[in-house]
Amino acid sequence: MRFNRRILTLALACAPLAALPTGAWAQQKPLVMGFSQVGAESEWRTANSESIKSAAKEAGIELKFSDAQQKQENQIKAIRSFIAQKVDVIAFSPVVESGWEPVLREAKAAKIPVILTDRAVNVKDTSLYVTFIGSDFVEEGRKAGRWLVEKMKNEKGEVNIVELQGTVGSAPAIDRKKGFEEIIKADPKFKIIRSQTGDFTRAKGKEVMEAFLKAEGKKINVLYAHNDDMAIGAIQAIEEAGLKPAKDITIISIDAVKGAFEAMIAGKLNVSVECSPLLGPQLMAAAKDVKAGKPIQKRIVTEEGIFPMEIAAREFPKRKY
Ligand code: AHR
Repeated sequence: MRFNRRILTLALACAPLAALPTGAWAQQKPLVMGFSQVGAESEWRTANSESIKSAAKEAGIELKFSDAQQKQENQIKAIRSFIAQKVDVIAFSPVVESGWEPVLREAKAAKIPVILTDRAVNVKDTSLYVTFIGSDFVEEGRKAGRWLVEKMKNEKGEVNIVELQGTVGSAPAIDRKKGFEEIIKADPKFKIIRSQTGDFTRAKGKEVMEAFLKAEGKKINVLYAHNDDMAIGAIQAIEEAGLKPAKDITIISIDAVKGAFEAMIAGKLNVSVECSPLLGPQLMAAAKDVKAGKPIQKRIVTEEGIFPMEIAAREFPKRKY
């Protein structure tokens, strides 16, 4: 008797679910996304992680978030673990461009769609991912170059540039260098006299700038940093060397994070090219579309501007990251 009552209770509890058509029942389950993040190397990255986490929550997506600490092998491990867990969608921001084919083929064989955000991969078979959402890094480099060419248009002598590159082999480091060089090469007065990686971090930016200053001293006219964090680290090195940032050395960087605005308002950074980290909402919308079998654009490019120090104070209150 007691056994029958229990069966009856269970049957009544399940009745509403059983009444749902199969498709509707599937829709009740939250979409599960595995996301492998590059690391926490910059202010940009912190804002990007925050955007992804809050957008997932907002969209009702269950997010499995993994921090790779700037190591490709950690990202590959994370992706393999997402495959084993049979997540619905895998998304990741690849630390470097190359070396992804084997793991992406594994995801494809498991029929798990892959979305790239922020950084691209260099693969022959583009069916290994469904879409790439993020900035045009080459264009960011061009914007930096165009700003410099305009600023120095009346300069008759040589313009000696030192460059702080991003992480070696990463899409933003490769593309920002390419875009910048494409513009400045039109005038032979522009010369990149030193170029080295600062790995997108403040500490490395400072360290490498110290070495540049030691080697070249007052010969340096311009610093081009592939991100704001490295520029902020370099500003410290420039001040410690007894020079005035943004006056003795013109400083150009990329991202336009709040720290860069503070530096511009303080008169220590000349310009920052925008690179938006707020990719979370677009990523979640794309994941839902992919899962629903809707057509999706192969490339979704983020819209961005450029902020010279002259307008920094006015723009600062509007900034979201
Ligand atoms: O991939 C985007 C770049 O990565 C950002 O410009 C930089 O700050 C970050 O670390």
